[in-house]
Amino acid sequence: MNAYLAMKVTKMMKMMNKSEEQRSFLFQKNQELTLTAVDMNHQGYGVAKVDGFVVFVKGMIVEETARVKIVKIFKNYAYAILLELLTESEHRVKPVCSVYQTCGGCDLMHVSADFQKTIKYRIVAEQFTRQGLETDVISQTMAMETPLQYRNKVILPVAYAKGRVKIGFYRQNSHDIVEFDTCHVQSTLQNEIISKLKQTLDENPIYELKNVVIRESYSNHDIMIGLVVSNVDNPQLSKLTYELVKSFSEIKSIILNLNDQKTNTIFGKKDKVLYGESFLLDECLGLKFKISLRSFYQVNSEMMSVLYEQTLLAANIQRHEVVLDLYCGIGTIALLASQYAKKVYGVEQNPQAIVDAKRNAKLNDVYNSEFMCGDAKDIVDHFVKHNIKLDTIIVDPPRAGLHDHVIDIIKSSGAQKLVYVSCNPLTLAANLKSLSDIFTVESVQPVDMFGQTKHVETVVLLSRKG
Ligand SMILES: C[S@@+](CC[C@H](N)C(=O)[O-])C[C@H]1O[C@@H](n2cnc3c(N)ncnc32)[C@H](O)[C@@H]1O
Repeated sequence: MNAYLAMKVTKMMKMMNKSEEQRSFLFQKNQELTLTAVDMNHQGYGVAKVDGFVVFVKGMIVEETARVKIVKIFKNYAYAILLELLTESEHRVKPVCSVYQTCGGCDLMHVSADFQKTIKYRIVAEQFTRQGLETDVISQTMAMETPLQYRNKVILPVAYAKGRVKIGFYRQNSHDIVEFDTCHVQSTLQNEIISKLKQTLDENPIYELKNVVIRESYSNHDIMIGLVVSNVDNPQLSKLTYELVKSFSEIKSIILNLNDQKTNTIFGKKDKVLYGESFLLDECLGLKFKISLRSFYQVNSEMMSVLYEQTLLAANIQRHEVVLDLYCGIGTIALLASQYAKKVYGVEQNPQAIVDAKRNAKLNDVYNSEFMCGDAKDIVDHFVKHNIKLDTIIVDPPRAGLHDHVIDIIKSSGAQKLVYVSCNPLTLAANLKSLSDIFTVESVQPVDMFGQTKHVETVVLLSRKG
């Protein structure tokens, strides 16, 4: 549909005073039209409106005008793809990646690093507004100047087709593997290892190999490789291990993980060390951390320091304080906090991460920490039952946010300060709303751990109402 026709449709809708449901019938799949983006949404898509009907366009930047094609229609909104840009945003840049359009990894590589910060600020602010929360406490996003080559971890699906190995990333919403020569958010070393893997697996196929994980330490560029297989009994695995270790002196650990389930979960529950150590050693803000293959570790080491500094700054822990770090992973925040606190408790449901956390406490001579393994919603009752007085609670939950019971216990805990570290502004804002009868939001600091993508991390300080 051309601009003239779009105008006519708008006019017609006004005249007929159509309901939103009826309006969607005015658009059809594959229909072409000219739109201007008035905003951007949490997926990084341009948001255009035609008389209140919303169209989301992937790859479009706010204030740009483009010819687009409708690809999916819902009751109140539609998705469209960009056909031709008619006006270009000053924030548009040329993506450095050749597979940017097809690979599902990066969403914002067409946007300047500086404007990505603004977009992420707006993503957080939009969720706050939706929940009726004040936005004037939100600071501008902290980010890397050039968000490239920052990832310390990559998980790559492996498949064989037409006698060739395919290693890459899944195309968005599919299981097609998009291959690449260089992934620009990975380090050069990681890209070189991926090339070597491709070459070796082409020559000596391992059809049982489902995923390859590469982890790199920030402090000295040590490498851990995880090979996730559906069957461990393939002699080619030793050959692959030999080839990798021979080619890269940085490799300090190769772990085999058995996952014989046909689900989307990456890891199975059994690991076997094929070479070297069972962990990767890294350093952050002066502490050492041993990380197992299946334990969580922030993927951007440079911004991880910033994230933890902001967390500690917000928590402002005093020597007499008892601190609870919920969803503590391998104990990074808990052990950093222990340097300022009387006592720190860490709670985490992944048993391997809890083993790491306890080992990391010893490694750093930390004697005022205690780590507990279990679901946060169950373990929080321990503190109530044993009448443990908490001064500060730090939470860093997965994308799903806090369980209702965890929110209830935080409210009744008596803790004066709550620091909420979140990787999902949507659940963050909803949880903050639920906490708002008892806690005041004091400060909100978005931290961009995931440059070139739509994702953003946020550190929020809340204080108990007087
Ligand atoms: C976003 S990570 C944060 C980890 C840690 N704070 C860090 O910075 O490395 C969330 C952690 O919560 C753990 N987790 C997920 N669901 C949980 C639950 N229901 N109870 C306790 N821990 C959980 C995950 O295993 C993961 O280690």
